[in-house]
Amino acid sequence: MAPHPPPERDPHPGYSAEMPKSPRPIVLVGAGGIVRDAHLPAYAKAGFEVASITDLVPERARDLAEQYGIRTVCADVADAVRSAPADAVYDVALPPEAHVEVLEQLPDGAAVLLQKPLGNHLAEGIRTREVCRRKGLVAAVNTQLRFAPYVVAARELIAAGTIGELYDLEVRVSVRTPWEMFPYVLDLDRLEINMHSVHYLDLVRSFLGDPTGVHAVTVRHPEKAHANSRSDIALSYGDRPIRVVVSTNHDHHYGPRHEESFVKWEGTRGAIRAQLGLLLDYPPRRGGLARARHRRPARRRLAAGAVRGVLVPRRVHRLDGRGPAFSRGIDPVPAHRGRGRLPHHGGRRGGVHGCGPRGRAAAI
Ligand SMILES: NC(=O)c1ccc[n+]([C@@H]2O[C@H](COP(=O)([O-])OP(=O)(O)OC[C@H]3O[C@@H](n4cnc5c(N)ncnc54)[C@H](O)[C@@H]3O)[C@@H](O)[C@H]2O)c1
Repeated sequence: MAPHPPPERDPHPGYSAEMPKSPRPIVLVGAGGIVRDAHLPAYAKAGFEVASITDLVPERARDLAEQYGIRTVCADVADAVRSAPADAVYDVALPPEAHVEVLEQLPDGAAVLLQKPLGNHLAEGIRTREVCRRKGLVAAVNTQLRFAPYVVAARELIAAGTIGELYDLEVRVSVRTPWEMFPYVLDLDRLEINMHSVHYLDLVRSFLGDPTGVHAVTVRHPEKAHANSRSDIALSYGDRPIRVVVSTNHDHHYGPRHEESFVKWEGTRGAIRAQLGLLLDYPPRRGGLARARHRRPARRRLAAGAVRGVLVPRRVHRLDGRGPAFSRGIDPVPAHRGRGRLPHHGGRRGGVHGCGPRGRAAAI
């Protein structure tokens, strides 16, 4: 049986979309792809101060500093720590094998954002955790999907009881992911779950808590040299009558028409479907635009929107409470309206849709 209230009906206040009242300065360690495509554009948009940046390859740090007006480029991590404001948050955007060496150099008690995966394998993850605990670091892993605006919107609706009792939660991704564009993943022993499904598992846990059981199958492609790229993961929650499935196929080579990328929450009074639009054209700018050129004009617009570089499709900005979309709220479609043609805003780009028991789709 679900605990009362079930976790998804009583979310932590930290999941709200409120901006911090006094944002702290950020020290960036690492100036690679994720920082360039996602963190710096997001910080600029939010108006967060980046105090300094450093990278093993100095010109990467210098380029981004110039582009984003970051005043201090540090020679190394020690230099970054010496020049850091006392209340800095360290954004450590590095592959897991660099975690321990960098974390050892940070001040005890510092606030740190790490990247997923915590480790490429269990022992590496445990070593990272050990340093965090010993130094009293306030550390988090950047599994940002649980904070994505459309997830915030879905979380609020579910907490308010809008879709009734949650009985089904599904994450489904069936796309062509060009792993070859990320050479560092090609030699990994474990690929898909560490690099992708970790986000979906984290999302599920943020709604439902830890499962009582997990069944998983993860397989590689017969003609590809890299490790596993497709997974099915089923999570169970004791006697609770809920189906939770994460299903990913990164080897869908047969065109965009049948690609899928969504999260769907089904409840006894309605359902919410959020499209993970960026995954349908990832990575943006590199493969994304090139692939989009062969597609319909809508695909090109999708790529243009996706260039923002985070797991936040363009449409979803309207769900932050300021735009008209969110203020209209989800209106589960009554059965008698189910056949009607309703306004549809999300398309393949991303967004949240509500649908009633027999409804088509009600865009919000
Ligand atoms: N949260 C997400 O959705 C998400 C998305 C993409 C990547 N990532 C993760 O972020 C991490 C980085 O990915 P990326 O795509 O930016 O990789 P990248 O290879 O483009 O960049 C990594 C950067 O770190 C630098 N670096 C390595 N060791 C360093 C050290 N000791 N000190 C200073 N700089 C150092 C490298 O020179 C490089 O510029 C990976 O672990 C990846 O899994 C997370």
